[in-house]
Amino acid sequence: MHVHRSEKLWMAFGIAMLVVFLGTITFAAVVDGIIPPSRVQSIDPTKVSSTPPFDKPGLRKTGDKRYEAYYVARIFSFAPKHLEIPVGAHVKFFVTSADVEHGFSIPETGVNTMVTPGWVSEVEHTFRKRGKFLLVCNEYCGAGHQLMAADVEVK
Ligand code: CUA
Repeated sequence: MHVHRSEKLWMAFGIAMLVVFLGTITFAAVVDGIIPPSRVQSIDPTKVSSTPPFDKPGLRKTGDKRYEAYYVARIFSFAPKHLEIPVGAHVKFFVTSADVEHGFSIPETGVNTMVTPGWVSEVEHTFRKRGKFLLVCNEYCGAGHQLMAADVEVK
């Protein structure tokens, strides 16, 4: 069977790209530890208000400058509405929704996750800059979506 020269070149290119992509994924997984989310917590979205720790949303101190923040998103607000943390604090956010799909984003920090009813989203950040950071919902969730906001104050 005769295979045209340019056909061979494209096949070689295709195989080379496959090797590059698989190599990239393997490198990211092994060296950088980037893997799909696993061990994600689930929650009954109808019982968020009575399921600890989401029955008392807010900040918990877990160590030196280390915190966990539990948030409940519901149309059209976040609980807690206001969070105060010291500069340098490392915060692990746990967020769930009591109704529909929401977003959880602190634009200046890279904190950004979807919030899906039935699941607990996790995202972490170290706050090295003082100031008041706006926390917004960035998934359209209904008529009051644009009002859905809170803030994180770094002191
Ligand atoms: Cu919640 Cu948009």
